[in-house]
Amino acid sequence: MLRKSPFKNRKILIGITGGIAAYKIPQLVRILKKEGAEVQIVLSESAKNFVTPQTLSVLSEKPALSDFFKSNQGDWNNHVHLGLWADLILIAPAGANTLAKMTHGICDNLLMSVILSARCPIFVAPAMDLDMWIHPSTQTNIQTLVDRGVHLIDPEEGSLASGLEGKGRMAEPENIAQFLSAHLAPKPNYFLGKRVLVSAGGTQEAIDPVRYIGNHSSGKMGFAIAEQLIELGADVELVYGAVTIAPPANCHSYQTLSAKAMKAKCDEIFPTCDVLIMAAAVADYHAVDVASEKIKKSDDALTLTLAKNPDILKSLSETKKEHQVLIGFALETEKEEFHALEKLQKKNLDCIVLNSLKNPNAGFAVDTNEVTLYCKDGEQFHIPTQQKDQVAAALLNKLGEWLTKTTT
Ligand code: PMT
Repeated sequence: MLRKSPFKNRKILIGITGGIAAYKIPQLVRILKKEGAEVQIVLSESAKNFVTPQTLSVLSEKPALSDFFKSNQGDWNNHVHLGLWADLILIAPAGANTLAKMTHGICDNLLMSVILSARCPIFVAPAMDLDMWIHPSTQTNIQTLVDRGVHLIDPEEGSLASGLEGKGRMAEPENIAQFLSAHLAPKPNYFLGKRVLVSAGGTQEAIDPVRYIGNHSSGKMGFAIAEQLIELGADVELVYGAVTIAPPANCHSYQTLSAKAMKAKCDEIFPTCDVLIMAAAVADYHAVDVASEKIKKSDDALTLTLAKNPDILKSLSETKKEHQVLIGFALETEKEEFHALEKLQKKNLDCIVLNSLKNPNAGFAVDTNEVTLYCKDGEQFHIPTQQKDQVAAALLNKLGEWLTKTTT
């Protein structure tokens, strides 16, 4: 059966603003047109310094617009119609100035007026020099836009037009297309009505009444997964360790600080679940003797004897019934893919999600993540750096598609 592209017959308005990355937009237009999208370009005056309206008109098969008025007879490009026409608006590249204007509702050209008139989802793919990107003004503007529901397509790391190296390159056209595709794709609702056990956060292994062995997990990734599952209509059981944020509402949640307590809760809940998603960072060892009083500072060195914790995921996979699905996470610092695939096999999992500590915007504590999903049949999907809720949505989308395909 032929795959129906999520872009087929979708109306996508691309707003191009002034920046060197504008030269990549014709490539994006080609990808979207090939997938069956209708594309309307609206570009700012300064964007014309980097890409020609003629090129964009030819590729999009529609006049690329930048002026309110088409002629001196009073014909005009109605920004309200354009805003309402679009199923999705993408601003790419979105420079620091455009992000600031969007934040403050400044409406000094056709594109900004279209944005203010739009009712559809809006995506921004920022591009700028690394210092402009990390500047508090830009970051505050981005956060404000994200809080208002604008979708952020994170810039990528690499060489910048200034000659500097760092974060600020606009995401590559293929990655932008993939991001939009995940949003537009009809969600295979594999999870509707499924009972899903999610684990999140880090465990804490006590040394004495005031100290513990722990890790940097904040719970953000696991909670984002739980939230998305709730939206998909799953019945979510959430077991979490130490976290820095509140667990989502509308699910059953239990806090278990040690690996032993987390195992006991998971053992209790898993037998009645259809799916387990183990995003918790579980300590592999615990202190053999937990002091009943605070350990006093005496000698120069302190030796702790640690014993191995049970592997929760592995032991649950040993009890797995045929209909049950187990998804693990892996956090690696070297030979990432090799170790992730080893865990997939050794823990007898259906899939494993690898997040790499090599990307400073992925993994522990940060609001963003970059992951690769490896499935036991060899399929794999990469999800580029995005906010954790977007990663969770894209991950469950891929997982739902894969599970629908392989379990029915
Ligand atoms: O919480 P955040 O700050 O948002 O960060 C999210 C995260 C980086 C913690 C998360 O995305 C993640 O990667 N979680 C798993 C981290 C980890 O412990 O990986 P691991 O490679 O050590 O373990 C592999 C798998 O076995 C994991 O699913 C883990 O939950 C599980 N495990 C590990 C040890 C153990 N004793 N029992 C287990 O079940």
